Amino acid sequence: MQISPSILSADFARLADEAAAVPNADWLHVDVMDNHFVPNLTLGLPIVEALLKATSTPIDCHLMIEDPDRWAPAYAEAGAGSVTIHAEAAKAPVRTLRQIRGLGARAGFALNPATDVAPYEGLLGEIDMLLLMTVEPGFGGQRFLDMVLPKIRRARALIERHGGEIWLQVDGGVAADTIERCAEAGADVFVAGSAVYGTGDPARAISDLRALASA
Ligand code: DX5
Ligand code: ZN
Repeated sequence: MQISPSILSADFARLADEAAAVPNADWLHVDVMDNHFVPNLTLGLPIVEALLKATSTPIDCHLMIEDPDRWAPAYAEAGAGSVTIHAEAAKAPVRTLRQIRGLGARAGFALNPATDVAPYEGLLGEIDMLLLMTVEPGFGGQRFLDMVLPKIRRARALIERHGGEIWLQVDGGVAADTIERCAEAGADVFVAGSAVYGTGDPARAISDLRALASA
């Protein structure tokens, strides 16, 4: 069970301090958005490189970009511990996931709320983490979509059938009032943005979320 706080809700002018404010995080979740795949623009490779120098917490890069096949390897090469590409954007997912792994990072594969998991069963051998979006990607602070819960269960069953090694991450609207349902459905890596950085005490928020998810 791991918590990956999303710096999307942090103060971008103080990213090094914001990373230091969550010493109990398993990962730092970094949302890369290009204003094409999603209607928002955040940050890219130079900021990720700077963040990698500023923290020893491993970086979990979530690429919400139109051309992940072109860009994902560069994030792995820069030293991100995990690089996640979207099913809806990747044109050559097998090649890209293999490149990510070949560069020493964990390969993640993300599905939007309306994208079913069953068509991707054949890809499970290529990935280290499946990310199920529990909001439409693009913005922090949105309401958790309950409709994704049955898909979390189906994904967990597929992962178990496949040997159980793949991590199952949920991202979007994960907070004290939703994390238990996600854990019960089978998620084991929890991204939380506003529920961590939107509070006065991010480290405390992480311990509270961890306790709820492990209960
Ligand atoms: C949304 C991003 C999320 C976002 C989550 O597209 O992928 O990582 O930061 O923010 P909250 O936890 O506030 O929904
Ligand atoms: Zn994200």
